[in-house]
Amino acid sequence: MDGCSVLVTGGLGFIGSHTVVPLLKQGCRVCVMDNMFNASLKVKDRIRTLVGDERYGNLRVEELDICDAEGTERLLKEVKFDACIHFAGYKAVGESVAKPLSYYENNIGGTVTLLNLLSKYGCKKFIFSSSATVYGDAKEVPVLEHFPLSATNPYGRTKLFIEEILRDLSKSDPEWRIILLRYFNPVGAHPSGLIGEDPKGIPNNLMPYVQQVAVGRRKELSVFGSDYNTRDGTGSRDYIHVVDLAEGHIAALKKLQSEDDVKCKVYNLGTGIGTTVLEIVKAFELACGKKIPTKMADRRPGDVAELFCSPDLAKEELGWTAKLTIEDACKDQWTWASNNPYGYEGKRE
Ligand code: UD1
Repeated sequence: MDGCSVLVTGGLGFIGSHTVVPLLKQGCRVCVMDNMFNASLKVKDRIRTLVGDERYGNLRVEELDICDAEGTERLLKEVKFDACIHFAGYKAVGESVAKPLSYYENNIGGTVTLLNLLSKYGCKKFIFSSSATVYGDAKEVPVLEHFPLSATNPYGRTKLFIEEILRDLSKSDPEWRIILLRYFNPVGAHPSGLIGEDPKGIPNNLMPYVQQVAVGRRKELSVFGSDYNTRDGTGSRDYIHVVDLAEGHIAALKKLQSEDDVKCKVYNLGTGIGTTVLEIVKAFELACGKKIPTKMADRRPGDVAELFCSPDLAKEELGWTAKLTIEDACKDQWTWASNNPYGYEGKRE
């Protein structure tokens, strides 16, 4: 992949930044476009430390929104890209219920704008950040890629609609090579503790919340539901270390670079193992050496009891498999949290 030129939208965010590191290490030239809505420019310096000055020289960062057609066109005129990895998008479920139009405009509108321009400038290899959310209320686990798709909220619908748009695009023009990666629950951080997840406001997701309780930013974790039909009654999910997830993108990019009949393929990126909320709490307590106070609470509307995937197709066709464990994720997330208890920008609340 030496010299491969890659456009990474949302490349300073949580999953994006963890993917930019191996891309640069593999010798790619990387251009990040990020509107900085959910990211910090400090990530650039951290990436520099991780990849060294020489590789860092192959990184360009543009503060640019995917909805900004003019700015994006200017960039595409100037730089020729071999492929695009598209992470940019809003991702808060609750907010999407309150502001559906903003989600549709930004996620779907922005993606269509981006695809139009990529097509115009001849960059037709595309990797999309999809999500396990497109399985809706899966009737069965493990979840396989051919299972029926549905969405239970506007955020999920943006992922589902973009998948459909990409399937249509692939049918309309065989030159496109598209891979949809359905992430299960991304957790952990780079083992260096230099980059990690830094959500705005009160975290919606479990691991960032547990992390903030561990550093003293929140009093206790509410466990949403303790009467599910699972090992200990709490919800069970397929937590995937973000470093493994990042490697999944490298594997997908290699496929796009080496095969010409990809069309539009979809892969689950998960471990195939379910872990409950209480198991996560226990693993984090071991990693940080502190007690995480919890209180049992009602079920969160829209939650399912258990969701985990079969990652077999990604193993067969991408040669990718998750290597890191929940213990690794908790250890690495604690290193990140203890070095950056208030995220990249320091104390702001
Ligand atoms: C959530 C989103 C999903 C999105 C994914 C991204 C919902 C309903 N779903 O999935 O669309 O793609 O994040 O990672 O928001 N929990 C607690 N206490 C908390 C937070 C969570 O007990 O404070 C529990 C939940 O009930 C669930 C588990 O932890 O059983 C994981 O929750 P979360 O991290 O929010 O992920 P998902 O619900 O799987």
